[in-house]
Amino acid sequence: MAYNLLKGKRGIIFGALNEQSIAWKVAERAHQEGATFTLTNVPVSLRFGTIQQLADQCGATVIPADATSVEDLEKLFRESMDILGGKIDFVLHSIGMSLNVRKGKEYQEANYNFYEKTLDISAISFHKLLQTAYRLDAISEGGSVVALSYIAAQRIFFGYNDMADAKSALESIARSFGYIYGRDRKVRVNTISQSPTLTTAGGSIEGFKSLMDFSERVSPLGNATAEDCADYCVALFSDLTRRVTMQNLYNDGGYSAMGMSEAAMEIYEKGLKASEQA
Ligand SMILES: NC(=O)c1ccc[n+]([C@@H]2O[C@H](COP(=O)([O-])OP(=O)(O)OC[C@H]3O[C@@H](n4cnc5c(N)ncnc54)[C@H](O)[C@@H]3O)[C@@H](O)[C@H]2O)c1
Repeated sequence: MAYNLLKGKRGIIFGALNEQSIAWKVAERAHQEGATFTLTNVPVSLRFGTIQQLADQCGATVIPADATSVEDLEKLFRESMDILGGKIDFVLHSIGMSLNVRKGKEYQEANYNFYEKTLDISAISFHKLLQTAYRLDAISEGGSVVALSYIAAQRIFFGYNDMADAKSALESIARSFGYIYGRDRKVRVNTISQSPTLTTAGGSIEGFKSLMDFSERVSPLGNATAEDCADYCVALFSDLTRRVTMQNLYNDGGYSAMGMSEAAMEIYEKGLKASEQA
């Protein structure tokens, strides 16, 4: 169901790689709600992914940009304002990558070149995006910027590795820049902390299938899907959340407030019995 919540709004959506990407679902929902936007991703992902298909579907232009390059970001904001015909109303930062995770380097053995890349791509790029937009005065008053996070920013999840540090920094940047952007330009900055979701980035985390199953059993409402996340993003881009800023908002079926659930206990007890009999 569409409600025209984003009618007349202009946006920039980072991070749609393929149909599984959370950003892909956000673009589809934003399009349904009447928004116009540009899509962007790093050139290598444009080659390997299927973003042009999404652009055709949504009538969007794809602008290549490496989110760690301030020069690319500046070009992206300028071109987006030209194409869309004015200042930007909403931005989605849906970017994450860790070479330590990809190459199977455990946290205590981190390669520091990889570590710096993790932080630059997954967290500092958010600061660069906000700083560029602020400097160009590219986001309209009442605008909304959202980045996607994960609860490993607050608690330890085995296998999430240096991405946990990146997510902590990302959420902190949302608060720090959110204060300045709110004070000076009335722009909102928030993060959504999403359930584990089967995507290219998600699936690269060690033990991801078990993690998804565990959190599904623990969450009273079950895991939030990419489509659920898209709905939440649309609500945050809309005028219905005008005074919400500097928050880390959980879209996780209740997981973050749980300790142990009946459904998880049952499976744990089965495993315990099996290991006692072995
Ligand atoms: N999948 C999950 O379980 C989950 C859970 C919580 C939060 N998140 C977060 O959601 C966001 C989107 O991830 P996803 O799960 O949709 O996976 P995805 O792999 O589809 O998206 C990650 C995107 O980051 C982009 N990217 C990587 N380096 C970049 C760079 N230098 N510049 C610009 N873009 C770059 C990739 O091209 C890709 O499009 C990430 O921040 C991720 O950490 C994912």
